[in-house]
Amino acid sequence: MIEPEDTMTDSNFRLFSKLIYRETGIFMDVKKKALLINRLKKRLKYMNIPSFYKYYRYVKKSGDKDELARFIDEVTTNVTSFFRDPKQFERVKKLIFTKIIPTRRKKTLDILSAGCSTGQEPYSIALLAREELLPRLPDWRISVSGVDICESAIVTANNGEYEKDDIESLPKKYLLKYFTQNQDKYTISNDIKEMVELNRRNLITQTIVGKYDIIYCRNVVIYFDKHSKNIVYNKFHHALKKDGYLIVGHSEGLMGDPRFKFHTPGIYRKVLNEGD
Ligand SMILES: C[S@@+](CC[C@H](N)C(=O)[O-])C[C@H]1O[C@@H](n2cnc3c(N)ncnc32)[C@H](O)[C@@H]1O
Repeated sequence: MIEPEDTMTDSNFRLFSKLIYRETGIFMDVKKKALLINRLKKRLKYMNIPSFYKYYRYVKKSGDKDELARFIDEVTTNVTSFFRDPKQFERVKKLIFTKIIPTRRKKTLDILSAGCSTGQEPYSIALLAREELLPRLPDWRISVSGVDICESAIVTANNGEYEKDDIESLPKKYLLKYFTQNQDKYTISNDIKEMVELNRRNLITQTIVGKYDIIYCRNVVIYFDKHSKNIVYNKFHHALKKDGYLIVGHSEGLMGDPRFKFHTPGIYRKVLNEGD
């Protein structure tokens, strides 16, 4: 009989916490022990492993990459919504028209959603591009990419199929024009899906492929410590084009970071290094 609550000691928790930190950059305080127990219980049951310690050993030592991915899926928090922080989307739209478009020689706009979860953020950007940017920029190429460490989130994102609760924050005009309803499922149209490329990537252990005008990274580094934040902000600095912008969540100020300069709330411009 598995009694998981009883078997995760504080020292077991510390082992998991170290492993999570190494694999994801996420820092888990011991206050999160109950949460971790809850999330891992079903993996122990599914794998028929009788204790948290044995599960830890399996994930760490067996080389079973699929279970490592399942483990990571359990420890990530994927809360998101369409057009999360709508005022910020308006600010980004203004930024594109006033600061980015006038300074570009090539008519391309590349946008990355880093930590895109189940796809609502990159699809919101694509919807905005389709309805509000492309009509005024008909000869521009706009690409939207999304990356996330969580495999199941990327699968959902690629399916583009959402529940009623998920579409609540979506403006009606987008819902009517770009989604089809089948019973209680809402599927995003293929022409929006085709604008967005979604991949499983780890922001801590992998490089960011490509160069971007805008990188969205909202509500991702709130789970990171200073060291992990520094790693990803360095990568964003490299991955942004000259005059590129980083978009962060409303509680994630970057004040005092010499790599980025405050533009408007939640929006920071890349500061060029000498010789860039
Ligand atoms: C709370 S969601 C935020 C989603 C979206 N950006 C938003 O603001 O609505 C945080 C996402 O960051 C992802 N994440 C956490 N650590 C990551 C890492 N090291 N690499 C890539 N994605 C990561 C999680 O899997 C999760 O989907």
